[in-house]
Amino acid sequence: MMGTDLLAIEDLSREDIELVLETAGHMQEVGRRDVKKVPTLRGRTIINLFFESSTRTRTSFEIAGKRLSADVVNFSPSSSSLKKSESILDTAKTLDAMDPDAVVVRHAVAGVPKRIADELAAPVINAGDGAHEHPTQALLDLLTVKERKGRIDGLTVTIIGDIAHSRVARSNIYGFTKLGAEVRVAAPPTMIPANVDCLGVKAFGSLREALDGADVVMALRIQMERLTGAYFPSVREYSGTFGLDRAKLRFAKDDVIVMHPGPVNRGVELAHDLADGRPSVILDQVRNGVAIRMAVLYLLAGRRPESEA
Ligand code: NCD
Repeated sequence: MMGTDLLAIEDLSREDIELVLETAGHMQEVGRRDVKKVPTLRGRTIINLFFESSTRTRTSFEIAGKRLSADVVNFSPSSSSLKKSESILDTAKTLDAMDPDAVVVRHAVAGVPKRIADELAAPVINAGDGAHEHPTQALLDLLTVKERKGRIDGLTVTIIGDIAHSRVARSNIYGFTKLGAEVRVAAPPTMIPANVDCLGVKAFGSLREALDGADVVMALRIQMERLTGAYFPSVREYSGTFGLDRAKLRFAKDDVIVMHPGPVNRGVELAHDLADGRPSVILDQVRNGVAIRMAVLYLLAGRRPESEA
């Protein structure tokens, strides 16, 4: 069974991941109804604590909480006492004193959600911490692949782009390898982390080899906000070598699917015509994100205290 927080895919067992995916299957059904709401988390409060910008993830957690009838509070750092130098931990403790049933945290620094979880009584869900992990993104990616391919075990998944600075890459590497897929990464050598072999993946410096026989291809955004030096000569050269387009995609299997966590820089990591429609499943990923977050909130915030059990 999952622990009390969701901080990293690295911490989860195969069974934990399968439980979330199975629960998300039921939540997808709620999302297909006319009235997309169930009373499961009525009377529970969820705080979204986003210190870093977000479109998909924050909205998705908010919709997920509301579909489960929870009260969702969005905390925005720019209008808070953080502006008056209150520390992040004091802010978190203050919010915790209002007895939320779950706190969802995104921060530019790796480890902040864990630090907050150590202090808080409420379950903490990591919505992305620096270049460390983004567990719900990997879970929604796994759900999307399972839906399209019917399985994860035995598939070849190629992740292209800024692996070194991408929390999406790290979480997906853990998730896909735990469920039995072969994971390959392709990027300029400066964007491949030194310890990548220890993660059980194969690294490639060219797309041709990396894509050979791939069932799933995931393109990632260059994490400009996390780069401190020059990692490649120019954006044009990067997109010529590592930008995914229909010509390069021919190296993969005929029924390959193309994924991207968003936001997409069209014409850089992904050609315009690949971002929309088949074989791209980008909007399926977004849709499945709501079901995954409903599942995670249900599993973590829906628990009854021992005294009531
Ligand atoms: C990603 C993130 O913030 O880590 N986006 C997301 O949550 N869907 C990826 C990115 O910013 O490139």
